[in-house]
Amino acid sequence: MSSTPAEEAARRRTFAIISHPDAGKTTLTENLLLAGGAIRLAGQVAARGERRRTSSDWMKIERDRGISVSASVMTFEHDDLMFNLLDTPGHEDFSEDTYRTLTAADSAVMVLDAAKGIEPQTLKLFEVCRMRDIPIITFINKMDREALDPLELLDEIQDKLQLDTSPLYWPAASGQRFSGMKDLRKGDFVSFRKKTAEEGVQPGPSDRIGMQEARDTLDAMVMDELEEGADLASEALPDFDEQAFREGHMTPVVFGSALRHFGVNELLSTLAEFAPAPRPQTAEKNGQKITIDRADKPVAGFVFKIQANMDPNHRDRVAFLRLCSGEFKRGMRLKTTENKQINIHNPLMFLAQDREIAETAYAGDVIGVPNHGQLRVGDSLSENGDIKFQGIPNFAPEILRRARPKDPMKSKHLRKALESLAEEGVTQLFTPSLGSDMIVGAVGALQIDVMAERVAAEYNLEVVFEQAAYNVARWIASDDPAKLEAFLEKNRGSTGVDLDGAPVYLAKNAWDVGYAQEKNPDLKFTATKERM
Ligand code: G4P
Repeated sequence: MSSTPAEEAARRRTFAIISHPDAGKTTLTENLLLAGGAIRLAGQVAARGERRRTSSDWMKIERDRGISVSASVMTFEHDDLMFNLLDTPGHEDFSEDTYRTLTAADSAVMVLDAAKGIEPQTLKLFEVCRMRDIPIITFINKMDREALDPLELLDEIQDKLQLDTSPLYWPAASGQRFSGMKDLRKGDFVSFRKKTAEEGVQPGPSDRIGMQEARDTLDAMVMDELEEGADLASEALPDFDEQAFREGHMTPVVFGSALRHFGVNELLSTLAEFAPAPRPQTAEKNGQKITIDRADKPVAGFVFKIQANMDPNHRDRVAFLRLCSGEFKRGMRLKTTENKQINIHNPLMFLAQDREIAETAYAGDVIGVPNHGQLRVGDSLSENGDIKFQGIPNFAPEILRRARPKDPMKSKHLRKALESLAEEGVTQLFTPSLGSDMIVGAVGALQIDVMAERVAAEYNLEVVFEQAAYNVARWIASDDPAKLEAFLEKNRGSTGVDLDGAPVYLAKNAWDVGYAQEKNPDLKFTATKERM
């Protein structure tokens, strides 16, 4: 192929799916990969057993619990575009991982359960998208079940998310009566036909018919309702405005049923039509704020995720590097801003079920960089090591536990294990100023279980997690180093450092934090720390 790196970058579409657990993200992912031709048979993502075991699930604990702990990426080509679908874990305990993954996405598909609308996790994830102005395409799923009134659903999006909605389709009823949807731009009808058992739910091209044919063949009442609803919607709702969408103020809406493979082709064409190519990224170079454009020549990117043991036979880790500019070539040597050199001989590209060695990669692509622990979440990599992307946030843990090895002789080993897991960004590790305790911080309780399981499986150590003397951790910063020093000195019993040596305040509860803040107005106690 003779396209230039800039042209290659321009055909990348890197997106994530956000949803509340159970809205149908896994089913939609599977069906999008099918529609995109990345996998062949329905259920193949989950070929080895129960449905939820998608290709990104790789640990026993995930299978046992039926959740996907780690985020990964799946690449497929469709319509002359390269789609990179960033997989995010749905369970709320892993939201930190999800948040970080969103930093690597240029757009997102928001999946709503048609009977439930906006749910708490949808809202949280949406807020992250909004912070980063990530454009959102809405997919209202499960139309084959009794749904809320579509206008009500769109109203809710408008109210709760302050996001203008512009339906590209309008559904004809829902549940038992669900018959399809009208394409509001083309004016024809995508018909939903209940397939026979023999036909199964295999995807294929959508059944498109003219409105007249739809009228002639479908229930008259359903069609009347459809026309009435569609008229109301076009009167009450704004036309789709691409600019507003790109700025994150408006969302195009597609209806469907991921399970019945309905609306998935339409969602994919909406993505192809509107999802933006790799966005410019803000970074710092020689102390100056700069913008890195996908067409810029030097190769640069940032690590948004580290995953260990993708291959159970190896101990290596894989850093997921989102490229933001340049033409990456296999064998390249990139540097972090701390001048760590990484020779990338075997960059991985992730297909739906497989991994391949990437010979070249462009802005928007995510490559896996195998390493032995040199790379950390938040690291920027570039040819000269002089580009620093704006930080990926660390969130203050909501659960703190004191970790000790069951065998007291293994304390050093345990520290090493916890440090390397913290480097992956699975959990955080704090060391109080006094004593030698190891305090593990997690955003949710499930992470602590995952941690114990991994320490056992990967380091052959039994770890005991106990109630810690603290429940809240806040990073402390100040423009006045002397004041910070004085505070740390005075509060040695309730301060410590994180993995990077950054000072943290370890408090019993939120009230203590408030009190400390009040007493020390020159200090800042923050729940997030940008790793840069
Ligand atoms: P998640 O990743 O967002 O958590 O959701 P997932 O895809 O696992 O879907 C959650 C449940 O909703 C699954 O049912 C799935 O089959 C069902 N589902 C997804 N999309 C649709 C749809 O369009 N229509 C209908 N009717 N159901 C849908 P489950 O009973 O929890 O799992 P399973 O036993 O079917 O595997």
